[in-house]
Amino acid sequence: MERRRAAQRTGRSRVVAALVALEQLPGALGTALMALGVLLFGLVVAVTSLLGVGLLAVPAALRGVHAVADRERWRLGRWGAEVVPPGPLPVRLREAAADPVTRRGLRWLAGHATGGLLLSMVAVLLPIYAVRDLSFPLWWYAVPAGEATDSLTFWEVTDWSGVLLVVLLGLAWTTLSLLLTRPIATLLAWRGRRLLDAAADTDLSLRVAQLTATRAAALDAHATELRRIERSLHDGTQNRLVAVTVLLGAARRAVPRDPAAAEEILERAQSAAEQALAELRSVARGILPPVLADRGLAGALSGLAATSAVPCQVDVDVPVRCAASVEATAYFLVAEALTNASRHSGATRVAVAVHTRDGQLCVSVTDDGAGGAVEGAGSGLVGIRRRVEAHDGTLTLTSPPGGPTTLTAELPCGS
Ligand SMILES: Nc1ncnc2c1ncn2[C@@H]1O[C@H](COP(=O)(O)OP(=O)(O)OP(=O)(O)O)[C@@H](O)[C@H]1O
Ligand SMILES: [Mg+2]
Repeated sequence: MERRRAAQRTGRSRVVAALVALEQLPGALGTALMALGVLLFGLVVAVTSLLGVGLLAVPAALRGVHAVADRERWRLGRWGAEVVPPGPLPVRLREAAADPVTRRGLRWLAGHATGGLLLSMVAVLLPIYAVRDLSFPLWWYAVPAGEATDSLTFWEVTDWSGVLLVVLLGLAWTTLSLLLTRPIATLLAWRGRRLLDAAADTDLSLRVAQLTATRAAALDAHATELRRIERSLHDGTQNRLVAVTVLLGAARRAVPRDPAAAEEILERAQSAAEQALAELRSVARGILPPVLADRGLAGALSGLAATSAVPCQVDVDVPVRCAASVEATAYFLVAEALTNASRHSGATRVAVAVHTRDGQLCVSVTDDGAGGAVEGAGSGLVGIRRRVEAHDGTLTLTSPPGGPTTLTAELPCGS
């Protein structure tokens, strides 16, 4: 009795599992068809590239691979743990060929467009055939003579014994469907997760260590920034405002006795208040330069170049807006590099270049000065490195003795 109940339970859970798996498979069939389309397009591009004409279409083919992989990640994420997408992927042939994520994406695509397509088609067709053949007795006599056949059109049905055979075939499809649907869904999901999940193959502990370090650096940079603001407010604005109150007090006392002297004191108080205002403005500008919001990165950098002591050429090619904090970091980097160039390098010209590549904002500042810049000798370059790393970006300084000095940063655009 107990054993029979257990068997019933197992049978029921198998049906439920098959139904759940069945829900997933049309999606898998969809991505397999998309993968087939991209694969065929990729093959045409590869063949025409050999003849020298298809190379221009390589980025489009690679974008297609990434798009189908993204769709599959989304599909897998709906039925289980999230599949972590990789960072920005290359769409140029040489970079893509060396990129392990792209190579794994291509392997997945080739398998999913062929074996995956076949398996998901079988898994989707089995229950359709099962329903068709099991319901055959209900509608076979309504079908024109000669067209009543089993689902695979192997034999023509003319009497009830033929109908019975079709129903038996329907039972066979049902059994196969119960047995195969779940393993097929599991296999497709396993392969997709193994090849498309960015978290599956990166060394997570290393990544956690990196993020912990950059987080600490970000907090450090944040604390330094707060200290800087506090010092600027304390030493500048606060002092001026104290002077204003002292002068106003003196003016009040002087009014009844000596109005002319009071007027002179009031004039000094006004100029101290104006200085306090100017300092307050410069502190606010140091937090998030408003010029970035008003004129965008290109405009803000041109503004910096215009006030640079060393002649500066700016080349900005950024078609999209990046996150405000990323643009601010790029702005502060260029500001620091220009200040350093005029203070330390003896350069006659500086070149600033900013462009985006694969979702990264690339900034570089080169001066033709004496070189020999050392990170850590002051606080400027160290602060910039902290800012850049807080965004998960990279900063490179090359400054051999004799020059030139180049400061380069790559920042995830984060727009
Ligand atoms: N473009 C450059 N050319 C030559 N030397 C440089 C250049 N930039 C920086 N240096 C050298 O590297 C050192 C470190 O620069 P950093 O910007 O970190 O500090 P700083 O400019 O001296 O001070 P701070 O930026 O904190 O006001 C400088 O003291 C300077 O000697
Ligand atoms: Mg400096």
